[in-house]
Amino acid sequence: MAWLKDNWQGLVPWLMFIVIYIATFKLAWKKLADLVVSNATRRHGVFSWRFWWQFVEYRLILLAPYIPFLVFRESMPTTVTKIIFWWVILMLVMGILRFVKTERLTKILWWVYGYMYDGLLNFYPYRNLVNNVVDLMEVEDGHKVLEVGCGTGNVMQSLLDRADIIVVGVDSSKSMIRQAQRKLHHSLQTNKSSLIGSDALVYMKSLPSQSFDRISMVNFLYAAQNRLEIWAECLRIIKPEGKIVVTTSTEGGSRPIIQEHLRNASWVQLVSLRLIGVVIIDFFISELAKAGPFEFPTQDVLLAEVRECGGIYSKVSRVYGGAENGVNIIFSVIAEDELKF
Ligand SMILES: C[S@@+](CC[C@H](N)C(=O)[O-])C[C@H]1O[C@@H](n2cnc3c(N)ncnc32)[C@H](O)[C@@H]1O
Repeated sequence: MAWLKDNWQGLVPWLMFIVIYIATFKLAWKKLADLVVSNATRRHGVFSWRFWWQFVEYRLILLAPYIPFLVFRESMPTTVTKIIFWWVILMLVMGILRFVKTERLTKILWWVYGYMYDGLLNFYPYRNLVNNVVDLMEVEDGHKVLEVGCGTGNVMQSLLDRADIIVVGVDSSKSMIRQAQRKLHHSLQTNKSSLIGSDALVYMKSLPSQSFDRISMVNFLYAAQNRLEIWAECLRIIKPEGKIVVTTSTEGGSRPIIQEHLRNASWVQLVSLRLIGVVIIDFFISELAKAGPFEFPTQDVLLAEVRECGGIYSKVSRVYGGAENGVNIIFSVIAEDELKF
């Protein structure tokens, strides 16, 4: 206690440091993601004033937690060399990314994401989202199911746990497929599941008409460049009495998702390295959504596209953050022609 009495003044800048550090952490990552993506997609490259403005903003946010040490005239917990070191590293990364095309950037993103993705299994809203999808799918024994953009196979595994079905997953990312292979080892051996490493649209175009009872697309549509073509293919390959279940983000933001997790599960589960990796990658996805390769279409736009392609949607609700505030739309679709049967 005596030590505290003598030294409390020295603790004040440290406490302020921690508070400001936590408060600016998310913003700093957002700014960094914005910088990297702006540069790599040539939205605001290193030769534009916007890039340098963003760069200065980013540096200021990084330096903000150190202000209390200046104010209280305490020695800084970091050295100038450290700041210069990270500055140089950042500039090197930026320089390299100048030569990386957007398609390659998204490829790298999915590749890294493949190793982090299952951190989401620690996350209640994701588990709940998968359960919601599987409920809506209403799979029955003997069904043949296609999971488009299957990732690490979490939806496929949950579907296989529900009924005696055959499920095919297609994904263009090698690292995602590799994780899925490990997870689905048993069903792959018994031919209850198969994994296709391909662009989804290319694969779907190779399939015969009316060949699947169910199709699911979970958090895939925001990455699809050609949603109308995807819908047209889904409606062609689905059997007349079949249905398609979709969920995708229509807006950014993580507050409702975190709140849903805390309402239903322990905060301790949030402290996972892979989950932190997922959060960082999600920042990049949000930034890529601003620059073009990804898009969070609004609910109205998505549903209008379904109608335009001859689909009838139903059971529209929200998920991933709760049934009211969720950042994802979830719905099912049948082919218009089915109504004629
Ligand atoms: C967010 S993950 C969703 C994974 C899985 N559906 C789930 O919910 O667990 C999106 C997946 O879509 C895949 N993807 C993106 N564009 C694709 C494309 N054009 N063709 C096939 N897969 C694609 C990515 O590789 C990634 O695995």
